Amino acid sequence: MKITVVGAGAVGASCAEYIAIKNFASEVVLLDIKEGFAEGKAMDLMQTATLNGFDTKITGVTNDYSATKGSDICVITSGIPRKPGMTREELIGINAGIVKNVAGALIEESPETILVVVSNPMDTMTYLAHKVTGLPKNRIIGMGGALDSARFKYRLAEALDAPSSDIDGMVIGGHSDTGMIPLTRLATRSSVPVSEFLSGERLDQVREATKVGGATLTKLLGTSAWYAPGAAVSSLVQSIACDQKKMMPCSALLEGEYGLTDLCIGVPVILGRNGIERIVALDLNEDEQTHLKNSAEGVRKTNALLG
Ligand code: 2OP
Repeated sequence: MKITVVGAGAVGASCAEYIAIKNFASEVVLLDIKEGFAEGKAMDLMQTATLNGFDTKITGVTNDYSATKGSDICVITSGIPRKPGMTREELIGINAGIVKNVAGALIEESPETILVVVSNPMDTMTYLAHKVTGLPKNRIIGMGGALDSARFKYRLAEALDAPSSDIDGMVIGGHSDTGMIPLTRLATRSSVPVSEFLSGERLDQVREATKVGGATLTKLLGTSAWYAPGAAVSSLVQSIACDQKKMMPCSALLEGEYGLTDLCIGVPVILGRNGIERIVALDLNEDEQTHLKNSAEGVRKTNALLG
């Protein structure tokens, strides 16, 4: 199993690290445009192999796409991250050009690959990757919902004063401060709805804290986060590589599902060896449906900027 990660910045390097530590891939290629940067990150990571007990071979290359040839899965993290006070949508001017070129170059070397898009604004970059490559919809996956759901579960565990392993929950919708929809109605603590333990007001606070999860970290760190994004990518990649068929929310091209067409947005999908094996249709209530419709409008507005 060969996996390429484009962009050796904090998110890309974190993806490579978590993928390697989970020890399911034979090879990870880290590619960056900055001379020697990916080579350095790869060497540093490889020197953790005996300490962390993995056999994945990580190599770094400077903008040499021939080294990515025959990749089963390619992860695109390239582009600029947001700074405090910025929205993900503001990155489109620079990141669209980068993602377009990277996606094209990857497909040339690995026509059968599955693409995982992480660069922001992620839903729009996933849509752009579809337009540029024309790959079937199962083979392009945007990573946002897995991360947002992890942040949701973190906030729920905090509110419940519970261990994370007790918590289940999901965030659908666009990967943006206004577009995320934390599904509090379906969230549970050990199979019991969280509404049994938390007031409506506390659940609203959890929802709001989840939606600005990325922005809160950007303010604290001066740039966007990397540990949770890297871990979320690695769990998504593992589900594909190991054909685990896990269900997680990902940005997928919709063609009528949830009453939406011609956009990529976060919905629950089954991830296996074919990428998106299936889009899962949740029975959303009226309120959740309205949120998803509004979230889709937001994504469409950003998509319109691509033109
Ligand atoms: C985040 O939410 C980078 O979009 C990513 O942290």
